[in-house]
Amino acid sequence: MKSTSFFANLAGGLLSLNAVTASQADWTTLNATVGGRLQVGVPFSQPCFPHAAGGPKVQNEALCAEIQARNEDHIFRAQHFGAYELTQWEQCQTQKGDECMMDWTNPTNAAAFAPPRQCRQGSVPPVYLEVNDVDDVRAAYNFTKKTKVPLVVKNSGHDYIGRSAGPGSLALWMKNLQKIELETQFVPAGCPPATKPALALTIGAGQQFRTILDFAKENNITFAAGADPSVGASGGWVMGGGHSGLSPTFGLGVDRVLEFKIVTPDGVLRTANKCQNEDLFFALRGGGGGTFGVVLESTFVVEPTITVQVVLGMYNATRENSKKLIQELAKGAEGLAADGWGGYVTPALASGVWLHPSFSEEEAQKSSQSLLDAFASVGGSHMFFTMPTFTDFFDTFIAPNTDQVGRPQVLATRLFSGAALSDPVTVDAMIDGMLDSDFGQILAVTPYNVKDTGTSVNPAWRKAVWHTLMSYNWNFGSTLDEIVAQYNKLTEKWAVVRERTADSGAYLNEADVFEPNYQTAFWGDNYDKLLAIKNKYDPDHLLDCWHCVGWKGPQDPLYKCYPDPSGTLKSSSSEEKRESDPIKDEL
Ligand SMILES: Cc1cc2nc3c(=O)[nH]c(=O)nc-3n(C[C@H](O)[C@H](O)[C@H](O)COP(=O)(O)OP(=O)(O)OC[C@H]3O[C@@H](n4cnc5c(N)ncnc54)[C@H](O)[C@@H]3O)c2cc1C
Ligand SMILES: *[C@@H]1O[C@H](CO)[C@@H](O)[C@H](O)[C@H]1NC(C)=O
Ligand SMILES: *[C@@H]1O[C@H](CO)[C@@H](O)[C@H](O)[C@H]1NC(C)=O
Ligand SMILES: *[C@@H]1O[C@H](CO)[C@@H](O)[C@H](O)[C@H]1NC(C)=O
Ligand SMILES: *[C@@H]1O[C@H](CO)[C@@H](O)[C@H](O)[C@H]1NC(C)=O
Repeated sequence: MKSTSFFANLAGGLLSLNAVTASQADWTTLNATVGGRLQVGVPFSQPCFPHAAGGPKVQNEALCAEIQARNEDHIFRAQHFGAYELTQWEQCQTQKGDECMMDWTNPTNAAAFAPPRQCRQGSVPPVYLEVNDVDDVRAAYNFTKKTKVPLVVKNSGHDYIGRSAGPGSLALWMKNLQKIELETQFVPAGCPPATKPALALTIGAGQQFRTILDFAKENNITFAAGADPSVGASGGWVMGGGHSGLSPTFGLGVDRVLEFKIVTPDGVLRTANKCQNEDLFFALRGGGGGTFGVVLESTFVVEPTITVQVVLGMYNATRENSKKLIQELAKGAEGLAADGWGGYVTPALASGVWLHPSFSEEEAQKSSQSLLDAFASVGGSHMFFTMPTFTDFFDTFIAPNTDQVGRPQVLATRLFSGAALSDPVTVDAMIDGMLDSDFGQILAVTPYNVKDTGTSVNPAWRKAVWHTLMSYNWNFGSTLDEIVAQYNKLTEKWAVVRERTADSGAYLNEADVFEPNYQTAFWGDNYDKLLAIKNKYDPDHLLDCWHCVGWKGPQDPLYKCYPDPSGTLKSSSSEEKRESDPIKDEL
């Protein structure tokens, strides 16, 4: 496609339903500033469609077959700019037909690609730039400041609340920043020479857990990574909290990060650590991605290789058994957290797995008695394993069983303290929510034994022993009403849990899109301080995202694809949206 015609279409509003767009000249100038590297944001499934909207033939059978076969491949999706792990962020949920998607329940379903369906842009940013250096970020800030075209930062595209997508936006894609560098004597820049040096790993913004864990194994170190191969370590994961199965012993990502290199919205490359730009360092340790600037790299403290003790529990996952098992596990949960165990319980896999980074086999057997008893109480069984590295644990127990992607999925989650888990009403409401949903999971991944050293995550994390989630999907071709019904079901199902844990909160990276009182739920008392830091470094709000610190609110055009389940978020009429549906319910 000729650049001029592409930018002309964009400027003319043909490629985006967003009211905000720049002139053709503005786009062309930006493209020249970045050496002609602006790219068209092609939706992931486009090769399966005979035609792009109003455009030429785009079908590519070989590519289409690969995309269909690998629809649920986390790493493959993360390698494609036009893909999001949760596919509602590829579509415009409020505009039926404004999407370019396969039928996730049957990716080879040809009806998904047949007229009147077309490949439409949905929420995929129409233009993006692969960031190579500071100047790329500066050029984007300049452009957004002048044109008001919203700027979005995208890394792996795992975000559950859509903060790395956005209709009509210019996106910065971080994937080229692949640095990975181990230092044995790292001292944060600007700290006094007497500062105790650390074994530390510096990670470029585009690095993902798969390569980091392989690097760690080869280099005899341990990185406390999350439970997914393609989540990025230096992006949303760490800025929002960053949990790991090792967190009960080693803390969250925010507890382990020592330094960030970030381009703030004034165009300045800053180093943020405990000795300089301390306010920014606080904000980046929990305040959320896409808010305070564009991070180019971050440095984490790492451990030498550890031997991991593992307990695998298995059971016959009838509803009754799952309920009894979780009730029993809840009783022992605080004791296990205090002993440093992390773990994941997944009824859909009829199993739970726990890990410990420092116990001997004997200590592991002794301290896990409550787990063994819980599985025995439902006629289940258990096995012990000793894994030589955390990477081996990940490869054996996590990688083959990652949470499903390549479909729309919406979550509700909560952090549970030991006290909350000793209240049977709360526990039963949590269990019913999990088991009555499409996918539920208990994650024992809280920093129970790690004191806060100035992070901005909700302090409720420190008391919590479990982070649990429930979720719903919706089928391909769902109407807005059907989508809204799933959001509402989440809210209803989780209401008792929220009421009875009013002093707790939720993990902002794995949250309900419509989390009530999100400022308090995500940050507790830290919100006001975070807002002041946001306003200091980004007074013009060049960066903005859904439920982020200093959020502009749902009426901004960037959020026009978010539904409005309560009917109170947006003042504009939903009637208008329904009437302008490009495609009626043809499937
Ligand atoms: C299948 C799956 C498994 C998961 N497992 C875990 C887990 O085990 N532990 C855990 O803690 N979380 C987990 N998550 C949640 C994960 O932490 C969030 O989705 C997180 O937002 C991903 O960050 P990202 O940068 O990789 O993704 P993106 O969606 O690309 O970005 C997320 C947010 O960060 C911003 N951002 C990204 N890069 C930068 C940057 N360089 N500078 C500034 N802002 C940036 C984006 O603008 C966006 O707001 C999981 C999610 C999924 C879908
Ligand atoms: C940017 O300019 C280059 C070089 O002229 C061109 O190849 C490219 O297609 C342009 N980008 C877009 C999105 O049109
Ligand atoms: C951004 O704008 C500033 C101020 O106009 C200018 O000095 C700078 O060169 C611009 N940077 C880029 C990379 O476009
Ligand atoms: C890691 O440890 C192994 C076994 O002790 C050793 O052979 C190897 O050289 C070490 N690798 C590095 C990069 O230090
Ligand atoms: C699980 O329990 C159900 C109900 O008791 C029983 O019908 C089924 O055979 C059991 N499955 C296994 C694998 O034990």
